[in-house]
This record gives sequence, C-alpha cells and structure tokens, in this order.
Amino acid sequence: MREQMLAAEKVKALDWREGGLYLLDQRLLPQQEIWQRYETSTDVAQAIAQMRVRGAPAIGIAAAFAVVLAAQQHFVNGVNDWQAALEADFAELAASRPTAVNLFWALQKMRDCLDVAAQHAEPLVVLEQQALDILNADREANLSMAQLGLEVINRANAGPQHVMTHCNTGALATGGFGTALGVVRAAHAAGLLTCVHVNETRPWLQGSRLTAWELIGEQIPSLLNVDSAAAHLLQQGEITWVIVGADRITANGDVANKIGTYQLAVLARHHQVKFMVVAPSSTIDMQLSSGVQIPIEQREGEEILAIAGQRVAAQIDAYNPVFDVTPAELIDVIVTERGVVEQPNLENMQALMR
Ligand code: MRU
Repeated sequence: MREQMLAAEKVKALDWREGGLYLLDQRLLPQQEIWQRYETSTDVAQAIAQMRVRGAPAIGIAAAFAVVLAAQQHFVNGVNDWQAALEADFAELAASRPTAVNLFWALQKMRDCLDVAAQHAEPLVVLEQQALDILNADREANLSMAQLGLEVINRANAGPQHVMTHCNTGALATGGFGTALGVVRAAHAAGLLTCVHVNETRPWLQGSRLTAWELIGEQIPSLLNVDSAAAHLLQQGEITWVIVGADRITANGDVANKIGTYQLAVLARHHQVKFMVVAPSSTIDMQLSSGVQIPIEQREGEEILAIAGQRVAAQIDAYNPVFDVTPAELIDVIVTERGVVEQPNLENMQALMR
C-alpha cells in the first residue's frame, strides 16, 4: 500500500533544488503546467497571496523555504544581524494568508531553530534542514492519515463507496499525496471506492481544475458537480462519506475549511451521511478555544464577478469570504497522523495533542 500511495507523489506542488524554491503555478492548471523558480522570500509571499501555491500544508512548507531564501539573501548582502533582518521577512510571510494555521506553525518552527543556526558554522544548512524536515514530516503524516482514514471507512461501511470531496486536498495542497484526497486514494487502492464526487469549488475551482486533474491522472473514478448539486446528491442516498481537509482546527474541534464546507456538514448530518475531516496536527490550533476566533480570509470580489478575466456579473459588489467554520458537533471524525478523534470536543482534542 505504501508504495502504491507514494506513486501519487509524482504530482508535486513545490520542489527545493540548488538553493531555489520551485512552485507549480496552480492558477494555470490544468491547462498549463508552468514551474517557476523563486529566489526571494518576498516573491514567495506574493505567490502564496496570489494562490500560485495554496492548500494549508503546502503554504506552510513554501513559507519555511521562503525563510531559507530570506536568510540566503541577507548573507549574500553581508547583513550583520541576519536574525534581526529576518523579522521583516517573517512578518511579510505571515501576512500572506490569514486562515491556514500551518503557515504560522511552519514560521514558528523556522523561528525556533534560528538560535541553533546562529551557533552553527553554516547557519543556512540548519535552516534548510529544518524546512526539509517540515516537508518530509508532512509526507509521512499524509501516509499515516491515509491508513487511519481507510480503517475508519472500513469499520463503518462494508463494500465500495461513493464519497464526496470539496476543494483540493491532494498532492497539490501538501508535501505528499494529500490529506482528504490521501484517504480517497487509499480507499481506491483498497478497492473500496466506486466514485468520488468532486465539488467544483467556486470561485477558484480547486475541485474542477486541481482535484479532477489529480484523480484523472490516476484513473480514480470521479464525477464533477457544481457546488449547489451537493444537497441533491446527498439526498439520493448513494454517498456514504463526505471527506474534506482543514485550514485550522480549534481546541474544541471546530474546523475552518474552504467556503462551502459548513453547508456540506449540515447537509451530511441531515441525510445521515458521515462527515470526515482529515488534517495533520500542524493544522490544529490549541490556542484558539473555538472557531469564532479563526480569522476568515476575505478576497477580492473580482474573483466572483469575473470568470477567466471576463466580467460575467451585473454591476453589483461581491462578498467573498473564502473559508467557513464547521462546528465540531457536525463532524463525525477528525483524522490526524497522531490518531483519530471521533465526535471531537475539547477533551478528546486535548488528549490527542497531549
Ligand atoms: O484557498 P485554498 O485553496 O488554499 O484552500 C484550501 C483548502 O481549503 C483545503 O481544503 C485545506 O487547505 C486543506 S489542504 C490539505
């Protein structure tokens, strides 16, 4: 199973080579596969803000390598107090997107190794290793979550399933082959999948452009539907699981994820369909007691008003929150690499993170 799953890593969101960060421009997929080399932290921060790289774990990993690039630049420029100079880079990266806590988690990991790096003959080696460790830990977490998620499905339902997923939680969103999509991949490899129903995920179309591209690449049976078809599909009774990722999970088990996730959870509960959230522990923010405290990113109305640069809406303003919060009581199970939390609440989330 491990080998079969790792084969899915042929799709990558990012790569670190010869002192540069390479990002696959996700705004252009699937029509064009364009990789670009990044050599400054500022350019990576912009790439994150512009959604060239997206998905909570991938954002965190890109930011970690951006810190390496920033330090590299300060050394080349002969900056004396490179640690102090990095503060502006940390601030710029932290401002790139507000909701996915993996960004802040990864920046903190990089910050935590600055003193050790400063003591080292070659500080860049230490920083680079820390970023690589973040990447590799995410790959391993994907593998563990796929296995654990598969066990949850196996325990709950017999035979092949129809599942629904939202946004893109696959190789393009992580350092490995994915969180929710990793579980979907494992279910397929185990012969447990009849069809993945992919919500197109307006307005950035992460479902129809990215998830569909990943699934088709591996010939995993899948069907695309508009977001508003979800209620109808769940009402039909074939779908047994809604499986999604997360951008931030608070101490009580509330989950921020791509806009539209909350309505799926409400629908799933109404139709007695199980609702699974799959996310690494780097997505868990025990500092926040509940989802109301999660900063929800608002993006330009233009993303809704126009399609591929062409205005389609009448002369109206748009409201464009890009994440929503699903209350813990609507979630049947949260799958992390540390273990599985059923019926999440403060107590069992604390036990998981202890
Ligand atoms: O705006 P995006 O594309 O970065 O949003 C991504 C999501 O909401 C994903 O579901 C989440 O980051 C988990 S990715 C493993």
